[in-house]
Amino acid sequence: MKYFVTCFPGSEEIVEKEIKGTKHKGFLTTTKKPSESLKSIIRAGIYLKYFNFKDIKEYKKQIKDIKFPKIENTFAVYCERFGNHKFSSKDIEVETATKIKGKVDLETPETLIYVLIKNKECLIGVDLYKKNLDKRNYRIKPHPNALNSSIAFIALKFSNFTKNKNLLDPFCGSGIISIEAASLGAKEVYATDNQYYCTSSTNINSKIAKVQIKTFQIPILELKKQFKKYFFDFIITDPPIATVYGLRAIKPVYDLFFKQAFHLLKPAGTLTIITARPKPFLGPIKDFKLQKQLILDKNNLKYHILVFKKH
Ligand SMILES: C[S@@+](CC[C@H](N)C(=O)[O-])C[C@H]1O[C@@H](n2cnc3c(N)ncnc32)[C@H](O)[C@@H]1O
Repeated sequence: MKYFVTCFPGSEEIVEKEIKGTKHKGFLTTTKKPSESLKSIIRAGIYLKYFNFKDIKEYKKQIKDIKFPKIENTFAVYCERFGNHKFSSKDIEVETATKIKGKVDLETPETLIYVLIKNKECLIGVDLYKKNLDKRNYRIKPHPNALNSSIAFIALKFSNFTKNKNLLDPFCGSGIISIEAASLGAKEVYATDNQYYCTSSTNINSKIAKVQIKTFQIPILELKKQFKKYFFDFIITDPPIATVYGLRAIKPVYDLFFKQAFHLLKPAGTLTIITARPKPFLGPIKDFKLQKQLILDKNNLKYHILVFKKH
């Protein structure tokens, strides 16, 4: 049996470390059944077909030879579509469903046929878990700018984060990075934020995730007072981005952040920034050197994972 896992384009190499397979842009095929507990992927299923097509006429032709599974009870077709097309996701779902024998149940289908369309590319399979695996169950107190959990996991892996290390997220929001780090077996994880609702959300989410995280409601300015010099092996964070007030308003926060990070991070420590607005971090930064970067594509929004070392 051949399986597929979908992922954020750009993350294929990290995903391949979790599940061996053949890499394609935005997905991998594999002979090993993907487990529901994989952390870097989006969806997982039994592979049926991958092809390129132009329009609905060509789509119909392409799906003619697919051997859809025998439906014992009920089924549904779910299409996720990215790009501009003259057809809708609904059109694709209806066209696909007409090729399958069985009773349709849109609410609780026993079998879910998954169709992923990105511009001209199409992947079709039988969804194993009928849900997005990057949406973790612990996210009960969300943050308006919360990071995707799989992106947080990928950033940890790309930063070479390993267990038994200390980590700080000083702009923790709802605690996604901290929770993913603690789930990987971190020694101690500290999540700080200047907003009370953020540290309390992190406390609640981490309880649901059954991991230990120490939270403090403190602004960036006071980090030095809270922690000993060179305490952290990793500082991994998703900083606030420039708002209506522009880059000039946020720049002092970034400057302060790098200053504090230099004090708190071990000499060989790693500082990682995850951001969809990388420009302010790509120029020279005092005391830090950009070591490597990974760009992930989340529905056309580019997330940059920037890994810095002290210098
Ligand atoms: C992009 S959000 C982080 C979201 C988080 N990664 C999550 O997944 O929920 C940035 C966070 O930085 C915090 N923040 C902004 N300015 C700060 C400052 N001066 N000191 C500490 N935290 C600050 C905000 O309260 C916000 O929660």
